[in-house]
Amino acid sequence: MLSYRHAFHAGNHADVLKHCVLLALLDHLVRKDKPLTLVDTHAGAGRYALDSVHADKTGEWRNGVARIFAREALPPLLERYRRAVLAFNRGGDLRFYPGSPALLHGVLRADDRLRLFERHPTDFGFLEKAFGGGDRRVVLACEDGLRGLRALLPPPSRRALVMIDPAYERREEYPAVVDALRDGLRRFAGGCYMVWYPRLQKPESKLIAGQLLALAPPSWLHVWLDVARPAHDGFGMHGSGLVVFNPPWTLPKDLAETMPVLVDCLGQDGHARHGLECHIP
Ligand SMILES: C[S@@+](CC[C@H](N)C(=O)[O-])C[C@H]1O[C@@H](n2cnc3c(N)ncnc32)[C@H](O)[C@@H]1O
Repeated sequence: MLSYRHAFHAGNHADVLKHCVLLALLDHLVRKDKPLTLVDTHAGAGRYALDSVHADKTGEWRNGVARIFAREALPPLLERYRRAVLAFNRGGDLRFYPGSPALLHGVLRADDRLRLFERHPTDFGFLEKAFGGGDRRVVLACEDGLRGLRALLPPPSRRALVMIDPAYERREEYPAVVDALRDGLRRFAGGCYMVWYPRLQKPESKLIAGQLLALAPPSWLHVWLDVARPAHDGFGMHGSGLVVFNPPWTLPKDLAETMPVLVDCLGQDGHARHGLECHIP
């Protein structure tokens, strides 16, 4: 039974970090004039209304994307992110938020392919309505994204970006992600893989980045952002992180410039901080 709905969280601090890095990866990959396969294993609903009852109930976007919009001068990655979100908001008011499928769809060229997996039937319905309209470049499936990924690797294009962004509702999702990456590297070591994880006070959340890096990808980057001190009761998400396999060589420098601004913009108390490490031979 799936209970997570991304509509409650769209545009929060984790989405800002995740979508900012996603756009950086996409911009780098589309620079080369060769077809690309883009895979989103946990796609969500695709796009979100920030004035919906869901988004309004938590108001998380106000401490996320809204703070980026309120800032005057932004480093290039965040300016790119702001422009991408603005493209979904005619007139400049922040009313809609693009999920990862919308950002991925936005860069598709004629010979690129986009594969979207979403298991929640309601969100899959929204996804189908938005992207299932006969665009032959896009294929959607209401099935397990990690299982579906296996059948797609290696892609005929031999160039791919795989985004893995689970809700981590169940503890078993953590080892399942590590297994999927192990299998992905075996089938297609040269792919670009991006994994999101929440920073929680749970052992599985603390361990996942190290477990992914222990798979020994050819090159990697790990970035994380804490927006607040971990809660005394041990619950709640105080930050999030991303592990990227085979990142563009330009990403560490771009993030070194971006992360201090994100800490300043999105930090909720004096414990806000970031980490950035990479190995790009
Ligand atoms: C964090 S949200 C995705 C947000 C989206 N990637 C974005 O950035 O806009 C995770 C989604 O995964 C879906 N999901 C959960 N288990 C899944 C599975 N095994 N396969 C595919 N989707 C799944 C959930 O229903 C939820 O919509």
